[in-house]
Amino acid sequence: MRKKIIAGNWKMNHNFNECVNFINEVKPSVVDNDPAKVEMLIAPSFVFIKTLKDMVNDSQIMIGSQDVSSHEKGAYTGEISVSMLNSIKCDFSIIGHSERRSYHHESNSLIREKLQKLIDNNIRPIVCIGETLEQREKGITNEIILQQLSGCFADIDLNNNTQIVIAYEPIWAIGTGKTATPEMAQEVHHNIRLWIEDNYNKETAEKIHILYGGSVKPANIEELLSQKDIDGGLIGGAALKSESYIEMVRIANK
Ligand code: PGA
Repeated sequence: MRKKIIAGNWKMNHNFNECVNFINEVKPSVVDNDPAKVEMLIAPSFVFIKTLKDMVNDSQIMIGSQDVSSHEKGAYTGEISVSMLNSIKCDFSIIGHSERRSYHHESNSLIREKLQKLIDNNIRPIVCIGETLEQREKGITNEIILQQLSGCFADIDLNNNTQIVIAYEPIWAIGTGKTATPEMAQEVHHNIRLWIEDNYNKETAEKIHILYGGSVKPANIEELLSQKDIDGGLIGGAALKSESYIEMVRIANK
């Protein structure tokens, strides 16, 4: 049985006080979460990771980053390295988000470099993939997903690392209020799991977590989570408010 993951991606939202308030509001609800069933993850801006890590110290909430550099160290102004994240005990890192791919021209091979760095440093990666509306309408969703998987996972040894998470986020569903139907999402998730099975093995495919992202909210999460291959959500807008985040965690515990 795979646990469910409720991961908030705050993007470039929430200043210091808003981050602190959110954690103060969510922390008491942790007692209602069954850690054997649901994992609670939050990715604030880099600047607040350490503060939030200290705040959640003894609770189940995991704090991660929204990106990481593909470089080890050195003259890369503005970049944040894996070892910096490690030094503040960052729990996970989102890589390859479609906003990074489109605004910062990130390629599958760059994301692959980041993935390798995270694996080498024992930080749990959440690798994002997903098609554009145009690609879906052309009927090439599956092809695009498989291309992204082959690029991001080229020569990556997954067999002993089932901590890795894949997030399927159709770009047309991100921040638009449009959600893929649970059946549409399930079909892609199933194909992702088959790809893992074909390229690694059945055991890895069964263990790996595949999250859905794109306008997930309390009103639609239950149906999405009821799909066989959907193991949780990577959630933007609806994870900014503590009440709505707590509600999604509660639903995932059902
Ligand atoms: P959204 O964002 O939930 O606001 O659509 C999801 C994401 O980009 O990870």
